[in-house]
Amino acid sequence: MTDKIRYEQNLLHVEDIPAADLAEKFGTPLYVYSGGQIARNFGLLQKAFSVIPGAKILYALKANSNPEILRHICSLGAGADTVSAGEIFLALRSGFAPGSISLAGVGKTDLDIDFALSRGIGTIIVESNEELKVVSERASALGRTATVSLRINPDVDARTHPHISTGLKENKFGINIDKAGETAARAVKMKNIELVGIHSHIGSQVTEHAPFEEAADSIRKFVLDLKKRGIEIKQIDVGGGIGVRYRNAIKHDLLPVEKKEEPVINLNSLAKVIKDRLSFPGCEIAIEPGRYIVAESGVLLTRVLYRKESAGRRFIVVDAGMNDMMRHALYSAYHQIVPVKLKDSGFSPADVVGPVCETTDAFAVQRELPALNRGDLVAILTVGAYGYSIASNYNSRPKPAEVFVEKDSARVVRDRETLDDLI
Ligand SMILES: Cc1ncc(COP(=O)(O)O)c(C=O)c1O
Repeated sequence: MTDKIRYEQNLLHVEDIPAADLAEKFGTPLYVYSGGQIARNFGLLQKAFSVIPGAKILYALKANSNPEILRHICSLGAGADTVSAGEIFLALRSGFAPGSISLAGVGKTDLDIDFALSRGIGTIIVESNEELKVVSERASALGRTATVSLRINPDVDARTHPHISTGLKENKFGINIDKAGETAARAVKMKNIELVGIHSHIGSQVTEHAPFEEAADSIRKFVLDLKKRGIEIKQIDVGGGIGVRYRNAIKHDLLPVEKKEEPVINLNSLAKVIKDRLSFPGCEIAIEPGRYIVAESGVLLTRVLYRKESAGRRFIVVDAGMNDMMRHALYSAYHQIVPVKLKDSGFSPADVVGPVCETTDAFAVQRELPALNRGDLVAILTVGAYGYSIASNYNSRPKPAEVFVEKDSARVVRDRETLDDLI
């Protein structure tokens, strides 16, 4: 639930600032983030997981790696989950302590591994036997010891969109749980490798408890199996994936209600599931959510360019495109779209589409929307995660600016790209 992004007297506000003022001042399309909403969501996670003594929350940078957002999340007490030298670089530059950073990723390059080793990163999460060998070799070449976790693939269906499902054995991620014991046995004998943990991540936008329970059961079984082999581990990282509610993010008498609302995870129950199954003496537990921390904080403000009708369909062409926000084009993802100024004008179905030369360049298809005119502003909600971080310059479109809002202050945290930036 977003409470920092709301209507006041029918005008959409981000914290204490009218969204229309932000669009006027900084132009559109414009990503706007509420610092207060990030703090709220992080606080909810912290509170729920406080039942697990010493539990760590590592923020998954891939969701949103704007350096100012990273600084904010670091100041709240998070560690960092990264997947590239670039993300490690950003995390370090934003204040995360090296020991609080982990490096995951199914295809780390030698550069990624060397960067992690030379910067003293907390954990390198290894996803295959061959990678384990390379990490050992690189550590040896650099005269270091690599602190390693093994990413196991628990063969659990996360029941999310297939493109963001990662925990099935046919997915490319992790080491098959049936084979991972042998990998662990090999790792403990390897030079320059210190095996410290187990990692698992079953998918993103998970909205049910059962997949997390199944994964935790598998991890528990695996840890007990390792104990039988005489291998004690000190860390269990259960990954990220906690889903958020995209439908009815804002409710208002003048907005239509989406009947098909997503279920959401109860954080307290999730923390209990993990605590009950995965508490072992001397072993620390970590989670690495991205979306849950940032998704609800972000809105994409965009202006209506044109209206048109074809074959009885109403099209609203806006100045944001799929290059700015890919989630609908990639996953047919639902994002609530609301007018920045609410009017009692009634609703009718419309497709909200961008200017990019692809039919998939749409943000909503046959969605109930009010009458909108050229120049009107609309807000695409819940875009703080996997919004800007997946944006591209497709169609040679400069990327939008990003603005960070706290109470009544707004500052640009990434400039709008210019045409020169395209060269
Ligand atoms: C290994 C790993 N950890 C954490 C995450 C973060 O997931 P989410 O943003 O759904 O919490 C991902 C996302 O794909 C991931 O692959």
